[in-house]
Amino acid sequence: MAKVRILSGMRPTGPLHLGHLNGVLKNWIELQEIYECFYFIADWHALTTEYENPDKISEYSKELFLEWLSVGLSPEKSILFLQSAIKEHAELYLLLGMLTPVAWLERNPTYKEMIQELKHKDLATYGFLGYPVLQAADILIYKAKKVPVGLDQVPHLELTREIARRFNYLYKIEYFPEPEALLSEVPKIPGIDGRKMSKSYGNAIFLIDSEKEVRKKVEAYITDIARPRKSDPGDPENRCVAFNLIRLYYSEEEKKEVVEDCKKALLGCVECKKRLSERVLKFLEPIWERRKELEKRKDWKDLLQIGIDKAKKIASQTLEEVNSIIFKK
Ligand code: TRP
Ligand code: SF4
Repeated sequence: MAKVRILSGMRPTGPLHLGHLNGVLKNWIELQEIYECFYFIADWHALTTEYENPDKISEYSKELFLEWLSVGLSPEKSILFLQSAIKEHAELYLLLGMLTPVAWLERNPTYKEMIQELKHKDLATYGFLGYPVLQAADILIYKAKKVPVGLDQVPHLELTREIARRFNYLYKIEYFPEPEALLSEVPKIPGIDGRKMSKSYGNAIFLIDSEKEVRKKVEAYITDIARPRKSDPGDPENRCVAFNLIRLYYSEEEKKEVVEDCKKALLGCVECKKRLSERVLKFLEPIWERRKELEKRKDWKDLLQIGIDKAKKIASQTLEEVNSIIFKK
């Protein structure tokens, strides 16, 4: 039986951190074994907010691709590509734009939120309003059935479904399938200060950090503040941010031991976090190793091209069909 096709994209807006890795990417890597996966770098979507300073986008795109490979996305298992390399996305975006009511876009909650959040940027542009139409084109051009995304993307996916439905209704053909969100449980990855790990909060551990930086950052994690001395018993599960990182990297048994020793005041925070940083480093080292090998091979462009060629074939086929449906050619 043919595998179900899924698709997702990531905007190239900076280096990856542990939050991406333990959340979205871990999930994408596992999905490779079950589905026919299309994963792409959404550089045009990055441009909707970065159009004033676009110089970093291509550098971030290359970086993102190398990071994807080094964490375990595979150009053999999945179709990995760059959005702007497949111009057909833009053509479908244009065609879908013709039939998408402006009101659908204006009432999109993500749109309103982003405009509020990114007040320092002028996002009153046609391109930013049309963000979900481009996203719909990304998905529908491959007729993907499922889209692994976070909760924040659900409104965009609903719009994609509405656009697909409207196309099918207008041209009296069951052409585009309505894609569904593939929501997975993503653990909350805490940053150094206890807020969600994010580049913009300045609390993240990046894949590109050095060994020294990783150690320093782990040591800076907030611990049980009601425990100024080692001799005070701690409450790791309720009051310690570092423990939320421990949860991700330790076995059940090891976690239990930390909890017990911390509660009995046998384990101090300095020692505890030192062990944790070793563990984080152990997790990062094979990734760094693969990254170095890729750097040496210098053929990342060829690896990306493999996915571009495969994606392009399918995308141009869809465009041909869509044009003949609309223009009755
Ligand atoms: N909007 C998505 C995000 O910000 C990225 C994206 C672009 C995407 N096109 C997509 C995700 C298509 C899934 C499917 O994360
Ligand atoms: Fe947290 Fe470890 Fe300190 Fe306990 S010993 S409070 S788990 S850092």
